[in-house]
Amino acid sequence: MRFDVVTIFPEYLAVLDVSLLGRARREGLVDVHVHDLRDFTFDRHRTVDDTPYGGGAGMVMKPEPWALALEHVAAQGPAAPAEPSSAAPGDRPVLLVPTPSGERFTQRFARELAEREHVAIACGRYEGIDERVFGWAEELFEVRLVSLGDYVLNGGEVAALAMIEAIGRLVPGVVGNPASLVEESHEDGLLEYPVYTKPADWRGRAVPPVLLSGDHGKVAAWRRAQQEERTRERRPDLWAAYDSED
Ligand code: ADE
Repeated sequence: MRFDVVTIFPEYLAVLDVSLLGRARREGLVDVHVHDLRDFTFDRHRTVDDTPYGGGAGMVMKPEPWALALEHVAAQGPAAPAEPSSAAPGDRPVLLVPTPSGERFTQRFARELAEREHVAIACGRYEGIDERVFGWAEELFEVRLVSLGDYVLNGGEVAALAMIEAIGRLVPGVVGNPASLVEESHEDGLLEYPVYTKPADWRGRAVPPVLLSGDHGKVAAWRRAQQEERTRERRPDLWAAYDSED
């Protein structure tokens, strides 16, 4: 699968070279290309922002550099059609736009995106990108404005890293043991159960005895109960959604 990230801080994405994702890139499982938005400007100062119409604080990202950058990215994709307008909606790559005003990025969404061949990410800075870009980009991409959570970051780069990791690790072969993907937080709508390793007694704290019992049925029941208790206490929102499912 291929990711294309457009940003004014390409060096921010350098961490994608390390760890699991770095290995996946070197093995050709995940292909990540980073583009500098300023390469799509033509003035001496490589300007990407301007003052907002209607007034107000901060600067807004100009639409034209984004249009040129996104056209470039769409033309590079694995399934780029010769004529962009001939693309059927299902064939379009996805364009993720990280923003605190977007829909929530969830594990379910990450799972859907891991099935796609081409995901582009437009990292905004300042007060955001000129709104017209999103409607314009629908011709080339399925555009999704996404938020990591109800807090504000300085720009989309950290969100892009988080999403690439969440999506990339679901691509077959990236995580060595696929079973570890099944038994983790959010996969079944619950938080994960607590885990322990040796020694069984550590600084006066014992591992829950059921885990040493060798009774797989009991262990499974205990873990499930722990998942439910944690979710009820820590994430009443998830618990309400889970509880109403059955
Ligand atoms: N950009 C700024 N804040 C963000 C957030 N909470 N989620 C995604 N992108 C962002």
